[in-house]
Order: sequence, then structure tokens, then C-alpha cells
Amino acid sequence: MRTTDRWASPPNEHATMKLLKPLPEVSGRVLLVDDDKRQLAVLQAILAEGDIETRVAEDGRQALDKLNTFTPDVIVTDLVMPGMDGFELLQLLKERGDTTPTIVLTGYGSMDKALRVVHDLSAFWFLEKPVEPQAFEILIERAILHTRALREAEEMKHTLTLHGVLGDLVGKSAAMQEVYAVIRQAGPTSAPVLICGESGTGKELVAREIHKLSPRRNGPFVAVNAAALPETLIESELFGHERGAFTGATERRAGCFERAHGGTLLLDEIGEMAPAMQAKLLRVLEDSKVQRLGGKGEIDVNVRILAATNQAPGANLREDLYYRLNVFQIVLPPLREHQEDIPLIAEVMLQALNKKHGTRVSNLDPEVLALFSTYNWPGNARELRNVIERAAIVAAVGDIRLTHLPPQFFSAKSAGEASPAGNGEVLMHPGHRISESDEAFIKATLKHAGNNRKLAAEMLGISLRTLQTRLKEFRGTDSNS
Ligand SMILES: Nc1ncnc2c1ncn2[C@@H]1O[C@H](COP(=O)(O)OP(=O)(O)OP(=O)(O)O)[C@@H](O)[C@H]1O
Ligand SMILES: [Mg+2]
Repeated sequence: MRTTDRWASPPNEHATMKLLKPLPEVSGRVLLVDDDKRQLAVLQAILAEGDIETRVAEDGRQALDKLNTFTPDVIVTDLVMPGMDGFELLQLLKERGDTTPTIVLTGYGSMDKALRVVHDLSAFWFLEKPVEPQAFEILIERAILHTRALREAEEMKHTLTLHGVLGDLVGKSAAMQEVYAVIRQAGPTSAPVLICGESGTGKELVAREIHKLSPRRNGPFVAVNAAALPETLIESELFGHERGAFTGATERRAGCFERAHGGTLLLDEIGEMAPAMQAKLLRVLEDSKVQRLGGKGEIDVNVRILAATNQAPGANLREDLYYRLNVFQIVLPPLREHQEDIPLIAEVMLQALNKKHGTRVSNLDPEVLALFSTYNWPGNARELRNVIERAAIVAAVGDIRLTHLPPQFFSAKSAGEASPAGNGEVLMHPGHRISESDEAFIKATLKHAGNNRKLAAEMLGISLRTLQTRLKEFRGTDSNS
């Protein structure tokens, strides 16, 4: 028993009442707030029988003071108190974003009021006075467990950031940690960021994360893809147009810069933008003003610029624009260069996809992961996501196995491409003995599958037993020769 702030008044009969069930097993900390000292003593006495540490306060103000030095798992408060009452206390806690569950004590028969407090002030629950000891105990126990679950979830989020997740980006390899470091550094500023990486490496995810970490997070995030629009339309898309500015301009339209005002504008595939357009863009970036096509005056815009390209940094960019955009630079690694992240990325994707499709797929078979680590991933993480999505739907429950993967993983062509070591090709000439080419083909596949016989058999479309028999035969011919 570890109670402090004890009151001299003796516990009343409630405290000594025999309980129907054993005392709760959970330990925790409770702050009790009531102007009635006798009531406080009763509640303290009930909790003192379990492993609960308590502090008491006589009104809301005192309670807030206590919270500076004491972190309770639950707050129990009376509603009507002189000084700061329970309503005000709950309101302040809510405004502070304090998620500690609160239990309010209400007078007998004021159920309506109690429910309103629970609803409007987000109290955990209420108890009518006089407090029934066992109900009190059970409620305290529930609330402590609730707090614990919340804290564990918080802790997990924190651990995830430290160990490989930043927003929707997943990966704890050194390469990804480097990416996170620049995102964290650049995010809170309003400086431009040039984001480079192959298709599907997460450039847009990075851009959204930078926006989320910036003071503009509540402003708009607008993305415009320079490659997707014909040159003639890009200008009006970016800067907007007045009605009648060109044939077909039947309405006045705000451009991306105006729409992103107060927020972030992602200029996607910037390397695809024509040089003349790049020059116009540069002028806007320098002046923070745009003029709509056919418009007269200039409009002030306050926009943070992010630019993405799947080309090398600076490729196909005017030098002056490149220097303007390249204040921070993030180069996303292709998936094949941080294969060690595949299991974690796959796991996070699988959880999200289970939710999306209502599937209950729990894991990726080790053989699948082994195959993934030898594959080239030309479409990077987006391709991984597509492969897992398809496999999860096909599998529906249990684990994702080799049989759930699409044919590209098993075709001879992709097998050849997929092998980073050796070229994986088998040369056959007319007149070659079938038995010889067979052997070369089987051995090459086995090598490609990292000597995993089951996988090789799967790729070759034969049973494991047949593969084993054939290998035994080859060994036989080897020893004869
Ligand atoms: N690091 C990552 N962790 C988890 N998922 C990722 C990661 N990178 C990419 N993805 C997945 O790939 C998808 C595509 O990412 P995104 O659209 O950001 O790529 P991109 O680089 O902008 O591609 P593109 O050049 O084709 O526009 C995302 O929706 C996400 O599912
Ligand atoms: Mg993109």
C-alpha cells in the first residue's frame, strides 16, 4: 500500500465492507478529486486494499496542480465543488488533449446529467453516490487497463518511428533512415525540396510527409503532374485562366498555385516540363506572384514548393530552376537496393490490405520472402504492394505462398532478369541433346532460387520429387564421367 496525502478522518463502513470478489490484480495510480473529505477517505480506503497509489485534491485547481507532479492512470472527480468544479476541470483536461480517463461522481438520480458529461466532456464513465465499493473498484480496474492500452499504442507508434516507419513510409535500412532524417529536417521549414527516385519508390509519400510535418499541415496539399498534361494545358493548370482566355476557357479557373495557397504544391515529374515552362515557373517561384492566363493583375501566392522527378537529380532541369529547387534533396533508393526492408514493408502493407479487403492473411511464407529478395522490382514498392494485394486476395486466409504469386515471378524470362548475380541464361543450340540442356536448365534455375529445391521445382513446373530424382540422376552422370 503506497498512499500519500492521507486524511485523518476514519474510513466509514464502506471501506470495511466484505467484497464479493478478490481485489483487482492491476496496479495503478489514481487522482481523487472531491471537496468532501469524508468521501475522499472512503474512496482512498477502498483503493488502499489493492495495489493502487492515490493522491487527493479538493477542487479542480488543486487537481491540476497535482497533475504537474503526478501522472495518474485514472482521475475520479466530483462534479459540484467550490472553486474550480468538475465540469471546468474536465473541460480544461479536454482542451489540453489529456487522454487520462475520468470517472465522474454524480448525485443519485442525475443520470441525464451524467450521460451528458460522459458525452460532451469525454468522461470515461460515471458513478452515482453513494459509491458502491465493488462497482468503483471494477470501474477503476477497467479504466487503468484502458490507459495502459492507450499508452502501449502510443509507445508502439514511437517505437515504429525509431525502427522504420515515418508516416506511410516504411523501411529501417540505412538508406531509408537517411531519407527520414532529411524529411524531419526539411519538413518544418518552408524550403523547397527536390525528391528523386525511380517510379514507385515513394516520392509522393515523401512529399505528403513533408507537408504533414510543416506548419502548413492544415493547409492544402496539391499535386500536379507535368508529364500527364499536354504542354498547352500546363500553363493554365499551374497559373489558372480567366474566362475566354483561350478557346474552351468557358469558366474562370484558379491554377494549382492559387489552390495550394497557404499549403504545399508538389510539382511531379518536373523533368518532363518544357524548358520555356520551366523558365516561367522559376519566375513565379522568385516573385511568389502568379498571373492567370488572360488575367490582368498579379495574385500573391504563399506556397511551399516540392518537386519530384524519376530522373537523376538535375537531369532535364534548367540549371537556375535546379538551384532554386534543390535546397534540400532526397534521393529515394530503388527497392532492390534496400531489400532488407522488404519483410517489414510487406508486413505493414499486408495489414493495411487485410483491412481494405477484409482478408485474414497473416504472413508471407519464408520462401516468398526469399524469392522477393532475389527479384529486381522494376516497379519498386508500388509493385510490391500490387503483388501483395493480388496474393492476399487469392490467399484470403493463412499465409501468402509461392502459389499465390503472379507468373512474372516464375517465367524463365523474369527468372533471368531477376537474378542479380550471374545472368541466369541457358544457351541452347539446335542439335543439343535434350538431356544436357535439361540439366543446364534445372541447375540454372536451382541456382537462381538460391538452392531452394521447393522453389526451383515450383518455377520449373515440376514436383519436388521429380526435381530430386533428376538431381540424383545428374549426380549419377557426374560420378560416371
Ligand atoms: N517506403 C515505402 N513504404 C511503404 N510503401 C511504399 C513505400 N514507397 C512506396 N510505397 C508504396 O508505393 C506506392 C507508390 O508510391 P508513390 O506514389 O509515392 O511513388 P512515386 O515515387 O511517386 O511513383 P511515380 O514516380 O510512379 O509517381 C505507395 O502508395 C505505397 O503503397
Ligand atoms: Mg508519384
